[in-house]
Amino acid sequence: MHVSGCPPQGDVLVIGGGIIGLVTAWRAAQRGLRTAVVDPAPGGGAARVAAGMLAAVTELQYGEQTLLDLNLASARRYPSFAAELTEATGLDLGYRPCGTLAVALDADDRAALRELHAFQLSLGLESEWISGRDCRRLEPMLAPGVRGGLRVDGDHQVDPRRLANALLLACEGAGVAFHRDLVERIAVDGDRARGAVLRGGTSLTAEHTVLAAGSRSGVVAGLPEHVLPPVRPVKGQVLRLRIPRAYAPFLSRTVRGVVRGGHVYLVPRENGELVVGATSEELGWDTEVTAGGVYELLRDAHDLVPGITELPLAETLAGLRPGSPDNAPLLGPTALPGLLLATGHHRNGVLLTPITGDVMAEALTTGEVPPYARPFTPARFANALQEQAV
Ligand code: GLY
Repeated sequence: MHVSGCPPQGDVLVIGGGIIGLVTAWRAAQRGLRTAVVDPAPGGGAARVAAGMLAAVTELQYGEQTLLDLNLASARRYPSFAAELTEATGLDLGYRPCGTLAVALDADDRAALRELHAFQLSLGLESEWISGRDCRRLEPMLAPGVRGGLRVDGDHQVDPRRLANALLLACEGAGVAFHRDLVERIAVDGDRARGAVLRGGTSLTAEHTVLAAGSRSGVVAGLPEHVLPPVRPVKGQVLRLRIPRAYAPFLSRTVRGVVRGGHVYLVPRENGELVVGATSEELGWDTEVTAGGVYELLRDAHDLVPGITELPLAETLAGLRPGSPDNAPLLGPTALPGLLLATGHHRNGVLLTPITGDVMAEALTTGEVPPYARPFTPARFANALQEQAV
C-alpha cells in the first residue's frame, strides 16, 4: 500500500468491534471524528460469553490496587453511561444495581474470604462480613452449610450482550462506518501506522489506528515486534441456566463463592437467565466447551446453591479474555505514531467499558490519556518489549 502521500480517508480506524472497540468508536464519533470499525461480526467477541459482573470490590486481587482505582472509577460511571446509551438507542442494557454476596463453605474458604475482607477494609472499601444465617436470610436458596460471607452492596451487573447490541446501534446512530471483514495487517508506512489492509483486499487509511482486537491483539500482523501488545488468550467457560417463573426470584443478587480454593459465580438476570462462570484456563486459542469445565462449574455452583440442578441448562459457551502481564488494560498511544491500543482488559472488559471510552476519546483528541489512566499506557511494557525484539 502506498499511502504516505495521500490524505487519510478517516480520522480513526478501530480494529475490533467488541464492546471495547465499539465504545471507543462511539465516543470518538461523538467528538466529531470520522470513525470506522473493522470486524467481520461487530458486537461479538468475549462480551457474548461474559457474565457482566461489575465486581470491582469482590473481584479484588492482591497487588492490583492501581487497577482497583480504575475499576471503581468505571463502576461509578455505569449508571450515567447506561442511561446515556439507553437514551441514544432505546435499548435497555440490563444494568441492575443488585449488589453481590460472596460466601464460603468450609473453614479454609472462610479464612480466605476473611483475609479478602480485611484487605478490602484496609483500602477503605465497603464490604460487610455477615454470618451464614444472615447470608441465607438474604438468599434463601443458599446451601445450609454456608459459613459466612461478604455483603458488597456496590458490586452490580449489566447484560454484556445487550451492552454490545446497544453500542453497535449507538455507533451506527453516531455515523460510525462498519467494514465487515477481517484485518490482513495493520498498514505501517515509514514511521507511522496508517490504517489497515483487509482480507478482502481493501485498504483503509486513517490518521489514528486503534487496536482493540481483544485476545487477538497480540497476534495482529504488520506491526513491529516492539509495538505488539503482550496480550494472550485466557479461556473462560460459562453456563447459562434458565429460571422458570415458578422459581423466581431464585437469587436476588450475584452470588459468588470460594469453593475448594476456586471461584464460582452465579449472576441472576431480571429476564430469568442465570449465568454461572467461569473457568480460567491458559490453553491458547482453544474455545472448546469441555465436560470437565461444565462439571466443575456445576459442581461448585451446586455446592453453593443446591437448587440449580432443577433449572434448565440453556447454553454452554467458552470465550477468550484478553489477558495482559499485570491483568490491567493497555490504553492510549504507543511508541508507533498513529497507533493506539485499547486492549488487555482481561477479567474487567465489561466493567471498564465506560471509562475506556472516555480515556480513548481523550487520547484521540488530545494525544494524551487523562492523568488517572497514565498507569495503564502501553509504555509500561516498553522496556520488556524492546528487549524481546532484539
Ligand atoms: N470477571 C469475570 C471473569 O472474568 O470470569
